[in-house]
Amino acid sequence: MLLYLHIPFCDSKCHYCSFNSYTTINHLKSRYMDALYNQLQEDIEKFGITKGDIETIFIGGGTPSTVSTKEYEKIFTFLKPYMRHEIEITTEANPNSATKAWIEGMRELGVNRFSFGVQSFNEEKLRLLNRSHSPNQAIKAVENAYALGIENISIDIIYGVADDTKKLLKRDIEIASSLPLNHISCYSLTIEENTFFSTKANMSIDDENLARWLIELVQERLFPQYEISNFGSYISKHNLGYWQHKAYLGIGSGAVGFVDGSRYYPYRDVTLYIKEPLFKSKERLSTKNIIDEKIFLGARSIVGIDTKILTEDQRKRAEILVNEGKVTFREGRFYSRDYLIADEIALYMMG
Ligand SMILES: C[S@@+](CC[C@H](N)C(=O)[O-])C[C@H]1O[C@@H](n2cnc3c(N)ncnc32)[C@H](O)[C@@H]1O
Ligand code: SF4
Repeated sequence: MLLYLHIPFCDSKCHYCSFNSYTTINHLKSRYMDALYNQLQEDIEKFGITKGDIETIFIGGGTPSTVSTKEYEKIFTFLKPYMRHEIEITTEANPNSATKAWIEGMRELGVNRFSFGVQSFNEEKLRLLNRSHSPNQAIKAVENAYALGIENISIDIIYGVADDTKKLLKRDIEIASSLPLNHISCYSLTIEENTFFSTKANMSIDDENLARWLIELVQERLFPQYEISNFGSYISKHNLGYWQHKAYLGIGSGAVGFVDGSRYYPYRDVTLYIKEPLFKSKERLSTKNIIDEKIFLGARSIVGIDTKILTEDQRKRAEILVNEGKVTFREGRFYSRDYLIADEIALYMMG
């Protein structure tokens, strides 16, 4: 079982971001953390989680580093018996709020993987994105985590932003390669509805050639690619778990859970969530939904697609893709050779 905890607080709203995160509700932090604890207790019981069942935890947001380590203590104490021995515990963190003391406090609670939202090491680009940190703060955050004995460090980078040049991106990757990382996520900017960027023209560069060039560069200078946006000498067990279609608990406002073929949705609105943290609506997925999802997620990552889940017709289409050189077949699974066309591969295979 995987566990996702959502923290909906941020110091500033980035111009591209449509995540469930807010800058104006800081006064609700304590009550929110209590609600999170209540939902967690309820879900552990409701879904029959027993000792050692939880294999990964991911604290995401929003910005988990806007909440003090003290506020996480109760949750971690409660979770301890349910954690597997070799558990991976990741937290996202922003360079301005992930101080040395915060990183150390989270490490003491058991967090063993940090994912810093860096986006770029270029001052002007950070301003354009409305980030609340400087390039130096990002470098320092990574160095602090490493100095505190954290071996699993990842950063997020965004590319395809207006004004991006190959020179700028190359410099970002060069700086990344000088840092003690074992993982990087590189996201192509998506213009999301209701964001500041969606009100402006030409904020993104949607260029497959640029993506191809960057993916090559990251592989050359840093790590192998294991999913369309993820590269690492260490593969995140939590990420991999999602793509393997493992069950997960989604705790927090707008977090989604997936257990026994159903999705669970708590309230997205933070105030409503605090009032009723135990409420969730349930969506039962059909067998077809689940197989389609397995095809999509498998095509986008090193997980691949198990031939046993495909119909005779789908298998034939997968073999056509093998003959065209777009897909490989190894030990009972089909794998995309180029993740940038993974969605086309999945759609064709599904028929
Ligand atoms: C849950 S978010 C935020 C984590 C953390 N609060 C931060 O900003 O560093 C995880 C990552 O998604 C990426 N992201 C968010 N919105 C995006 C968008 N519209 N297009 C591409 N990447 C996006 C960013 O790289 C971000 O670091
Ligand atoms: S990208 Fe991260 S810091 Fe920026 S608004 Fe979204 S969740 Fe908050």
